[in-house]
Amino acid sequence: MIYLDNSATTMPADEVLRTFTEASRSYFANPASLHNEGSRAGQLLESARSQIARLAGDGDAEVVFTSGGTEANNLAVIGFAKKYRYRGNHLITTAAEHDSVRKAFEYLETQGFEVDWLSVDEHGRIDTDELARTLRSDTILVSIMHVNNEIGTVMPLEECAPVIRRKSRAVIHSDCVQSVGKLALPFPDYADAVTVSGHKIRGLKGTGCLITKRFTLPAAISFGGGQEDGLRSGTVNVAGAAAFAKAFRLALTDTDTSAFRSMTRVLHDGLAEEKRVRILSPLDGAPHIFSMAFQGVTGEVAVNYFQEQGLLISTSSACSSKSSRVSHVVEALKLPDDFRKGAVRISFGQENTVRDAERILEVTRQFLQMTKKGLKQHDME
Ligand SMILES: Cc1ncc(COP(=O)(O)O)c(C=O)c1O
Repeated sequence: MIYLDNSATTMPADEVLRTFTEASRSYFANPASLHNEGSRAGQLLESARSQIARLAGDGDAEVVFTSGGTEANNLAVIGFAKKYRYRGNHLITTAAEHDSVRKAFEYLETQGFEVDWLSVDEHGRIDTDELARTLRSDTILVSIMHVNNEIGTVMPLEECAPVIRRKSRAVIHSDCVQSVGKLALPFPDYADAVTVSGHKIRGLKGTGCLITKRFTLPAAISFGGGQEDGLRSGTVNVAGAAAFAKAFRLALTDTDTSAFRSMTRVLHDGLAEEKRVRILSPLDGAPHIFSMAFQGVTGEVAVNYFQEQGLLISTSSACSSKSSRVSHVVEALKLPDDFRKGAVRISFGQENTVRDAERILEVTRQFLQMTKKGLKQHDME
């Protein structure tokens, strides 16, 4: 089997597993405890925190450990809106965000906030001019993902940040779950707060964090013992934090992104002329994601066929892959009707090679051949 679903999750690195096991054994005490073992656990936690801040490019940054990307996104979106409501009621995000951002904004709408949703073009990109027109002096938060999880579009944060800063005092948050280790982090130059998830970067599920500039922390959205500066109550997962710091370091210092680029390039070059394939990922998108839509077949049928051939790919995004609805991102691309339901995503990881990309081409061509004539009605349902 060739695993090609790394945007859904990655295989943990051995070093990360070793760090987790060792820290779980040797630093199991509660870092809030006053005894020596508690202090040792607390020191490990703080050293993981400062390592992450340094790696993120700002040694003074705040790092709030969370259970992953979803929780960090919720904390950022709801927490910043709550904290800065005294300054204004207007929020901006995009039509292509992950559900953990999108649904947080939908919740805020029910709480009386006014949200503007920036549209995306056929490559999934926002328009900086639309952003400029939408910003207001009472805009308090702008959240724009760095890399889209379904098609790999890179959002133009370098262009957006100066516009946002010129026209408002809004906090800029960016969901960087899919970009960490593949592109330079937009933090701290183009974003004030970024979300990172451990299991997407060869770390462990249940780990991740929100990294923010110093003095730019959100308000709490969950309550309890007041850990993590009151922002994430609950006994801290010290071993998880240490394992996350290891995964973050590996992602930032030990990832060959040019290898990913070579793999997606094989697919772009090999499939550009196929009439029954629409390539959804832009050529200048993230190096590890390649998404395409088949004409006249559902993504699910394609995923099953690829699996029979030993290739594990996914429909547009792992979270929505079990639902038969067309994802909001694919919907926003305004594909012709006979392509709308046919989207699949291939996402490369550290274990993949160009040979795998060539095998994908072979299987794609077989699939196109096989489905060329006599598409069965049920394939479209
Ligand atoms: C862009 C993006 N943001 C957030 C998340 C949620 O991360 P987690 O699975 O760590 O909660 C995902 C997961 O697929 C994602 O792709």
